[in-house]
Order: sequence, then C-alpha cells, then structure tokens
Amino acid sequence: MRYLITGGAGFIGSHLANTLVRRGHAVRILDDLSSGEREHLDAAVSFHRGDVRDLPKIWSLLQNVDCVFHLAARVSVSESILFPRDYNDVNVGGTVSLMEAMRVIGVKRVVLASSATIYGEQPRQPVHEEMTPNPLAPYAVSKIAAEHYLFTLGRLYGIETVALRIFNAYGPGQTISPSHPPVIPHFLHQILGQGSVVIHGDGNQTRDFVYVDDVVEALITASNAKWVNRQIINIGSGEETSINKLVEVMETIIGKKANVLYNDQQSGGIPRLVADLGRARRLLGYLPKTTLVEGIRETTTGTPRFR
Ligand SMILES: NC(=O)c1ccc[n+]([C@@H]2O[C@H](COP(=O)([O-])OP(=O)(O)OC[C@H]3O[C@@H](n4cnc5c(N)ncnc54)[C@H](O)[C@@H]3O)[C@@H](O)[C@H]2O)c1
Repeated sequence: MRYLITGGAGFIGSHLANTLVRRGHAVRILDDLSSGEREHLDAAVSFHRGDVRDLPKIWSLLQNVDCVFHLAARVSVSESILFPRDYNDVNVGGTVSLMEAMRVIGVKRVVLASSATIYGEQPRQPVHEEMTPNPLAPYAVSKIAAEHYLFTLGRLYGIETVALRIFNAYGPGQTISPSHPPVIPHFLHQILGQGSVVIHGDGNQTRDFVYVDDVVEALITASNAKWVNRQIINIGSGEETSINKLVEVMETIIGKKANVLYNDQQSGGIPRLVADLGRARRLLGYLPKTTLVEGIRETTTGTPRFR
C-alpha cells in the first residue's frame, strides 16, 4: 500500500513510518518539524517538510496514495490553555484542509490520531466511546472538532474515516519537551539522573499507558479493516496504573530507589482514566501485547530525545 503520514516525523509517526517501510509499504511524510525530527526516520521513508494546512503541498503528496494517517497536531494539553487559537488553527484547520485536499484527489480512507483527553473526568471507568465527551482543555476540544469534521466531511465527500482515541502512549524516542514533558520519559530520565521525581497531587491518579508498538499495530489495522467507517475506537492498554505505581515499576527496572516529592499545590489532573477496549477488540481484533514492565524496560534502553 501507499501511505501519507501527516506528522510522521513525530514520536508515534516515526514508529509508524519505520514499521510500514519495513513491511514493504511506500510511505510519504508531511511534517513541519515543529516538534518532530527527521533523524529517526528510516532512509526508505520519503520525507517532505511542510504545513498540513498548505493545500497545494498536500495535493501533490496525495497523488497515488491509498490511505492517510493524520497525526500532525499540536499535542500539549497545558500549552493549549495558553495558545488555544494556535491549537484550533493546526488541529482543526489542519484536519479540514486535509479533507478538502483528499476530496480533490480522491483518496479512499483517512485514519485520525484522536485522543482520550476528549473524555475528561467521567462518572465511570473504564471509559467507552459512547460516553459524552467532557473536554477540559482546548487540546481536547480541538480533537473533538477534528473528529466531527473528519466524519461529516468524509460522509459528504465519500471518504472512509476512522478515529482512534489514543490513551497515554509511550516508548523509545518520545521527546522530553521542557514545558510539557510526557510523564514516562521525564520520570525515567529523572530517576536515571539525579534520582528525584516530583509528582503532582498525591500520585493516586490513574492513567492508561499504552506502548507505542501497540498503537502502531492499531493504526495499521485501522487503515485496511472492514466495518470501521465513521467509527471512534479507543486504543489503550486497558490497564489502570497510578502514578505512584508507575514510579515503583521504574524503580524496580532501573534498580534504584527514587526520591519522590509530592507537589500538592499543583493538581494531578483527572483522578482516573482507563480505556474500555471492547470496540477495538471487535472491530480491529486489537489486543495490546506489551505489558507496562516490558514497555518501560524497552523505553529505558532507548536514548532520550530532548527539545
Ligand atoms: N502521544 C500520545 O500519548 C498521544 C495520545 C493521544 C493522541 N495523540 C495524537 O497522536 C498524534 C501524534 O502524537 P505524538 O505523541 O507523536 O506527538 P509529536 O508532537 O511527536 O508528533 C506530532 C507531529 O506533528 C508535526 N506537526 C505539528 N504541527 C504541524 C503542522 N501544522 N503541519 C505539519 N506537521 C505538523 C510535528 O512536527 C510532529 O512531528 C497527535 O495527533 C496527537 O494528538 C498522541
């Protein structure tokens, strides 16, 4: 198959691109390198620098493509509170531009990397796709709007569409940005280095950490599965892990006790979040393969990326 990956130089996108070319597929990437990096891409990947809102650029890259993975986005919840217009422009505007371009060129299917942040705080866990969204930040709003544009324009233009709501993805090569570091690479780096970690809140808040290889398998399956048109599908591990437990797992793997400091002035975010994977299992045959221990071990052996 021939694929275009928007945002393909990023953390998930580069794992996806490298896996696809290893399996013999042709892969083009459109990425503005605002957070992604070219260096991690296999030489067989065809890289093009540019903005996902640049219509002539997307037209040229969509020629002869069978399916698009739409991953290009601004991705920080905290940053989105400071720059909501930017998040709306890129995450919503980028999705609309891509759909317009796909209509012109006539590409069959697009898979959107949506987000579990759409759920916000819910009365029950695990969360399933029929629950009413409760977005708590502009980033989450932008992902809901992107889903709506995807499905509405897909129906109007005859494009098959599917949105995967990805939970907390982690794995080797995830960038540690200074303003909004993802918890797993950040804590690993801290424990391996000077040994202290600062936990916001009491550390009992839970999340669903999903290894990047499992996310990549789900994306690839969604690109050619039947019965997924206009579906929202959760992609997580299905396991609920507290931040305290996460630190314990890291300590065991690294073989070093962390100096854990609690900052109760800063909220730890929503108290619980874990994915119901029933729909993913039914529609994609999805079964996450990597346990947290295996995944953290793999991540620990990778070189951290900084921005
Ligand atoms: N990592 C997670 O835990 C997670 C969870 C849920 C959803 N997602 C979604 O998955 C996708 C990939 O996330 P990631 O973790 O790999 O983040 P990332 O920041 O590593 O990747 C995003 C990529 O998009 C590119 N990009 C940003 N704006 C662009 C623009 N205007 N034009 C072209 N390229 C642009 C960046 O340079 C980067 O390479 C995003 O859509 C994100 O919202 C990620």
